[in-house]
Amino acid sequence: MSEVYAGAVDKGLEGVIACTTAISSIVDAALCYRGYLIEDLAENSSFEETVYLLWNDHLPSKEEYTEFKNILRSELSLRSEQIELLKQIPVKDVHPMAWLRTAVSLLALWDKESQLDTPEAHQNIAIRLTAKMGTLVALFERLRQGKGYVAPNPEKSFAWNFLYMISGQERDDEIVKIFDTCLILHADHELNCSAFASRVTASSLSDIYSAVTSAIGALKGPLHGGANERVMRMLVDIKTVEKAKQWVDSALTNKEKIMGFGHRVYKNGDPRAKILRSMSESLCNKSGNDYYKMSKVIDDTVQTEKGLLPNVDFYSASVYYSMGIPLDLYTSIFTVSRVSGWLAHILEQYKNNRIYRPRGEWVGKTGLKYAPLSGR
Ligand code: COA
Repeated sequence: MSEVYAGAVDKGLEGVIACTTAISSIVDAALCYRGYLIEDLAENSSFEETVYLLWNDHLPSKEEYTEFKNILRSELSLRSEQIELLKQIPVKDVHPMAWLRTAVSLLALWDKESQLDTPEAHQNIAIRLTAKMGTLVALFERLRQGKGYVAPNPEKSFAWNFLYMISGQERDDEIVKIFDTCLILHADHELNCSAFASRVTASSLSDIYSAVTSAIGALKGPLHGGANERVMRMLVDIKTVEKAKQWVDSALTNKEKIMGFGHRVYKNGDPRAKILRSMSESLCNKSGNDYYKMSKVIDDTVQTEKGLLPNVDFYSASVYYSMGIPLDLYTSIFTVSRVSGWLAHILEQYKNNRIYRPRGEWVGKTGLKYAPLSGR
């Protein structure tokens, strides 16, 4: 007879502490990266500096920052043979996250260090992957528009380059700053679903590309990173501010989930949503669309009627829309930032590894005897 494992089932592992970590923490409604409050970093840091902080456990000195920025920026570009191969894979009617998952996996084939198990190789791959994630997303967008690759400018920041490579146009400083802040806000979030997926894969001592590819697959889902795209689709469907309340009422009556609300950990509000809300207000007003106003009606209604608060995905949708970013790219943009957090988790996992191997509680049949086909 099979072994029967009697243990408590925590569906979705709610409340389970699966590992120790010193990367980011959530305590009540406070999110910190390496001990620094997200509000402080969003206001004062840059994405490039935040990546350094996540990977090194301290803010860089001037010299460390300059060196790190330069290396990261020098890795932004894709090689011509990589671009040529990526041009061969389909882009039409393909979800950007599906393309990105494949593209990241393909990049591993060029990386001579991908199978090396040394801290130096891991660091080099982390820089390479983080630098190239934005370039890949931008290339995807260019290719599906029938346009060519835009080479990055290593004199400019990561955020500047992403916006430049996607459109071929230089964006003004204010938009670059807002986008940079979005990247900081999305960089890490404790043991979320995709970070956990990356750690599970890394825990078998598989390579970094495999772990990041696992994480991209996890982030793609609508209950995780895929929610921002769904939020924008909902806003577009609702069409006007006047229709927003009635739309939410009817969705709640039908027991539908409203995308961009609720959170497994935050019960008193997601601090990132507060920062994004004010960015959404100013950007939507400036670009003359009603999506902030509509979002506010939805927010107020869901809070009053369901007691749920917006998460990071709710107001980021109208922020990206107002910046002119195509709607189905929002989750890929999440990836452009979150890859830095996954890498911090993967490297932390390697340093203190034990393979993840939980148990499942058996609820199936037991004690069956095989009957030959002729006797069934
Ligand atoms: N809209 C409506 N009801 C929601 C809801 C939402 N966005 N989020 C949670 N609820 C309700 C559930 O229906 C459930 O109600 P019930 O007890 O009457 O069945 C209750 O709140 C608990 O939700 P549950 O799905 O069990 O919470 P979870 O911790 O497993 O999941 C999320 C957390 C984030 C996946 C969930 O809130 C959700 O699906 N949100 C929408 C997707 C989203 O925005 N994801 C991005 C997360 S950053």
